[in-house]
Amino acid sequence: ALPKVYVTRRIPPDGLDILRKSGQVQFELWDSDDPVPRVELLNKVKGCDGILCVLTEKIDAQLLDVAGPNLKVLSTMSVGYDHLSLEELKKRGIRVGYTPEVLTDAVAELTVALLLATSRRLIEATHEAKTGGWGTWRTMWLCGHELANSTVGILGLGRIGVAIAERLKPFKVKKFIYTDVEPRTELANMINAEYVSLDELAKQSDFLAICCALTPETHGICNWNLFSKMKKNAIFINTSRGGVVNQEDLYEALSTGLIAGAGLDVTTPEPLPTHHPLYTLKNCVILPHIASASYTTRNAMSALAANNLLAGLRGEAMPKELKL
Ligand code: GLV
Ligand code: GLV
Repeated sequence: ALPKVYVTRRIPPDGLDILRKSGQVQFELWDSDDPVPRVELLNKVKGCDGILCVLTEKIDAQLLDVAGPNLKVLSTMSVGYDHLSLEELKKRGIRVGYTPEVLTDAVAELTVALLLATSRRLIEATHEAKTGGWGTWRTMWLCGHELANSTVGILGLGRIGVAIAERLKPFKVKKFIYTDVEPRTELANMINAEYVSLDELAKQSDFLAICCALTPETHGICNWNLFSKMKKNAIFINTSRGGVVNQEDLYEALSTGLIAGAGLDVTTPEPLPTHHPLYTLKNCVILPHIASASYTTRNAMSALAANNLLAGLRGEAMPKELKL
């Protein structure tokens, strides 16, 4: 019999085609745009050889126990892996595929768009124009902060951070600085970025882009301690994971003018409830986790996730395997 696979979401067509045409797996699909209910998920993974999931599915000990000993491969259609209990996967010898690189351009592009939308107050401005606030041309009205001559800080320098810096450089950024658990010399040299401490990153950055993975070490790393060291004109941009930010502290920092603005593509929880206080702030731009959402990239992610899964089931090296 063919290996049994559960696909936890209606993934983009490229990935589905690869699975269908492979003739290599017998797969069942949660054919919906909304997440599969947990109870249904637990029911469906029983006895599976492989699972292809997205970032809304929590892959933990309970799920892996229910899935049982046949499970060999877990393939996630995401670069982030904070929804996976890596320790539990490792313990059971389950191999993990993910989707780095194919989304770097799309995420970097969106990060720049969000940064400019926040620093130049675009959302506020269109709202003013539409709702009668545009009384006349005013000398200081809707003034924001320029990238030209600025210092851009990157928290967590990986492929995405480098791609963001490459795109920002033509805006005449003066200096790139970054912090990470250790210097990333090779990547840093590509963008001429200087390695600094987290403290210095907070103190010097006019724009601070969060580009790290969410791990126990980065959980809540953007908190009052960090915001209180930042410049009054600083713009904070997060396209990584909501969990790296202490949102109460961010709210305080934004509402008291401690920093100038924040652009968030990720929040805790997701979706962020419509009554959340962050929505009431004019200097906070919130997007519904769309950084990788281009047609090209989402298709590429689904194709890579499908190929990771198939390679893993054949016992071969995956195109992109997460080291556990
Ligand atoms: C998106 O957030 C991803 O992890 O791919
Ligand atoms: C702006 O529109 C200017 O003419 O300075």
